[in-house]
Order: sequence, then structure tokens, then C-alpha cells
Amino acid sequence: MNLKQYLHDKKTIIEASMEQYMLKGDSLLAGHIETMRYSLFAGGKRIRPILCIAAAETLGSHNNAILPVAMSLECIHTYSLIHDDLPAMDNDDLRRGKPTSHVKFGEAAAILAGDGLLTFSFDLLSAPTLTSQISAETQVKLIQVLAQSAGSLGMVGGQAIDIDSEGKEIDFDTLRTLHSCKTGALITASVQMGAILGNATPAEYKAFTNYGRHIGLAFQIVDDLLNVTATTEQLGKKAGSDAELDKATYPAFFGIEGTRTKARQAVDDAITCLEPFDHRCEPLRELAHYIYSRNK
Ligand code: IPE
Ligand code: IPE
Ligand code: MG
Ligand code: MG
Repeated sequence: MNLKQYLHDKKTIIEASMEQYMLKGDSLLAGHIETMRYSLFAGGKRIRPILCIAAAETLGSHNNAILPVAMSLECIHTYSLIHDDLPAMDNDDLRRGKPTSHVKFGEAAAILAGDGLLTFSFDLLSAPTLTSQISAETQVKLIQVLAQSAGSLGMVGGQAIDIDSEGKEIDFDTLRTLHSCKTGALITASVQMGAILGNATPAEYKAFTNYGRHIGLAFQIVDDLLNVTATTEQLGKKAGSDAELDKATYPAFFGIEGTRTKARQAVDDAITCLEPFDHRCEPLRELAHYIYSRNK
């Protein structure tokens, strides 16, 4: 398959549906909504929604409910980026090739844009219109998977460990947990939510979950690697910032080559988890390779 074409096609569908579903408000809220839109439509690889769709399609599901569900993941992800870049967090001024939200609109507006996107993802998932396409039980399952992955035992918790670990010596288990939470949890949820929409059996759900955990870890390992090996221009965000902030990263632990080996291993482990599935899992297999070889 041609992965480049696949990514392009899915991204086009996802972005068109995001335009359709995005919150609209009256003129008093125009500024707040514009601030959310600025970050949401700034680009981005849309990997989480694409994984969600690829998981559902592996099970032969082409339910239209996938689009708002996929968008809910991108809203959480974008909120996490806005808050991650704040002065009190990583203090970054470039994201997706543009000035960060707080640089462009001020800190208060950026915090609120993040809050708005976070809350809006659950609005999307709980919309009554979805129940015409999926059962209420499925809807609640989706809401819980997203809430758990985004919350204190997932992304938010990982961010807390990340901030706590700055400038400290941590052990490898803590580093792996940090990465699995701050980035792995939402990536795992993306695959799980696609699996739920595809009516996965318990065994299939477990296989998807393990696949998601491995690529989620690989994704953050490669993010660490690119922070050292790529340029700011290539990334659309500041290169070299992890060392400046004395962050706990894989390259700090294992060096560049050792980090590549760890990422490769995680991707190979992910691909092994796809064994129970037929040829329709090919996009998931290719996405795992892409997560290793991506250059931004
Ligand atoms: C960056 O995520 C932050 C991490 C969680 C590692 P992405 O690399 O998916 O960022 P975008 O969405 O493409 O900008
Ligand atoms: C991002 O971690 C994790 C989340 C935003 C949840 P990083 O701080 O390492 O990611 P970048 O490099 O700023 O995108
Ligand atoms: Mg960070
Ligand atoms: Mg950061």
C-alpha cells in the first residue's frame, strides 16, 4: 500500500469533518473559538484520528460515527499541546510551525482554549446524534476510554511525572511509565476507540490495546529522538528543548543509537500484536513503521 497517499486521504477526510463538527458560537465567543481553531487547524499529522479509523477499518467497520469520535481524540491532543507549551510547563514559542497559542493570544486565552477543547471532546462523544449510529452502551464505553486515557492515570498523570522529573535522576521504569502515560495513553485510546466502534471481540480488543501501547511508547521515544536529531524548521517546534529543560528522555538514558534500538523494538512488538488480524490490518502495520521512520 502507498502509506503517503493513505495518510493524505485520511487527513483530508478528518479535517473536512472537523470543520463540520467544530463548535460554533455567537459573536461574544468569536475570539475564544478562533483561539481554539488556531491550534486545531494549525496542521498536525492527525495520527490519533487516523489510528482510530485504521483500527475500525481493520474490523471492516465503516460507521460514520467514527468521524466525531476521531475528532474527539484530536481535540484532546491539541489541548494537551497548548497546555504543554505554556510558560509554566515547557515554555515553548513554536508549535505546528506557528507561534504557540499563549504567544499569539496571551496565557489566559490559551489556557481557556485548552479547557474548551478538552470539554468539547466529551461533548462530541456524548452527542445524542451519535446514538442513531451506535448503541448508548458503546457510547459510554468510548467516553470512559477517552476520559481514562486523558486523565490523571493517563496523559495528565504523565505530564505531572514529566514536570516532576525535570532536572532529576529517575530510573528507567519511571521514564518508561512517564512516556507510556503522557503520550502512550492517548495513542492506545485511539486504537481502542476504533476497536470499540468496530465491535472488537475481547481477544481482538486486547490485541489492539497491546499494539497501541507499543506504538504509543515508540511514538514518544521517536519524539525524544527527533528533539535531538532534527531541526526546528523540520519539526515546526523547537529542537533541542529537552536538553535545555533537563527533561528525562530516552536519548539522555541510552544515547542516539540505543534510543533507535528501543524504538525499533517497540514497533516490532506492536507489529507482532497484529498477527490475529487479516490483510485489513495493513494500514496499522504501515503506521507502526511510519512512527519509527517519521522525520517530524
Ligand atoms: C506531539 O505529538 C506531542 C507528543 C505527544 C509527542 P504529534 O507529533 O502527534 O504532534 P502533531 O499533532 O503532529 O502536531
Ligand atoms: C508531549 O510531550 C506530551 C503531551 C503534550 C501530552 P513533549 O513535551 O515531549 O512533546 P513536544 O516535544 O513538546 O511536542
Ligand atoms: Mg512536555
Ligand atoms: Mg513539550
